[in-house]
Amino acid sequence: MIFDHRTAVVTGAAGRIGQGTARKFAQYGVKLYLADIDMERLDAFAAELRSTGADVHSVFMDVCDLTSITTAAETILQDAARVDILVNNAGVWPRATALESSDDAWQKTINLNLNSVFRLSKIFGQKMKEQNYGRIVNLGSIAGEAGLPEMCAYSVAKAGVIMLTKTMAMELAKCGVTVNCVSPGMISDTASPTPGTWLGRSGTGDEVANAIVFLAADNTGYITGTDLPVDGGRTLGPRTTTL
Ligand SMILES: NC(=O)c1ccc[n+]([C@@H]2O[C@H](COP(=O)([O-])OP(=O)(O)OC[C@H]3O[C@@H](n4cnc5c(N)ncnc54)[C@H](O)[C@@H]3O)[C@@H](O)[C@H]2O)c1
Repeated sequence: MIFDHRTAVVTGAAGRIGQGTARKFAQYGVKLYLADIDMERLDAFAAELRSTGADVHSVFMDVCDLTSITTAAETILQDAARVDILVNNAGVWPRATALESSDDAWQKTINLNLNSVFRLSKIFGQKMKEQNYGRIVNLGSIAGEAGLPEMCAYSVAKAGVIMLTKTMAMELAKCGVTVNCVSPGMISDTASPTPGTWLGRSGTGDEVANAIVFLAADNTGYITGTDLPVDGGRTLGPRTTTL
């Protein structure tokens, strides 16, 4: 993968997939602005990356809050001058059926998982358009492709993320900006056996990070508007064979 002096913003960077992604970017020499609400974990992780020689900045950003998004983005843009890559990774998946969801809980889940992606893509997408170069990679989910019972608002939000990806990919196609989505399924800290995927195991944050970094590279610029499942074949259909 080629990254020619690139700068990336990764949200939810203190978590499993965020850390995996940041580690891989750092290996390619990408300058990093890592954002999260869990500053204790984020600062410790950023220090670990810095000790390997990486150029890493940690920033508090609550993606639920427009003011926090705007303030953090301004801080990043003042410091970085340009941002080439945005990874909209922050997300949470509260369990609730449609009938159980309070109106407030529904709004919060949509706000965190979908509105944040719109808001951040708008701010950094505008800058990418002006510089005629950019890569936006959004985190969808198998929930947004096939739906997951007891995660109704989350599934709807992630379906929105996938459609936001496709629409923005078309809108920014002539501006040097690609917009893609990676949809993980059954990811845990270590790959462990499960009958829930065709591969018979869960996946890791590192395996999702491989797909994110691939779609963020300089030399994958002919791919836009795609939704790439990283799910061990989970969305292929029910396992009807012992093969
Ligand atoms: N783990 C999976 O199986 C799975 C499956 C499908 C999709 N995803 C998606 O992948 C992304 C990352 O998942 P993960 O497994 O690394 O989760 P994780 O829980 O390990 O990490 C999520 C990170 O987001 C941060 N975060 C939470 N609320 C935030 C807020 N308001 N503002 C900023 N940061 C906030 C958390 O502090 C945490 O560091 C999410 O968008 C998730 O929906 C994960």
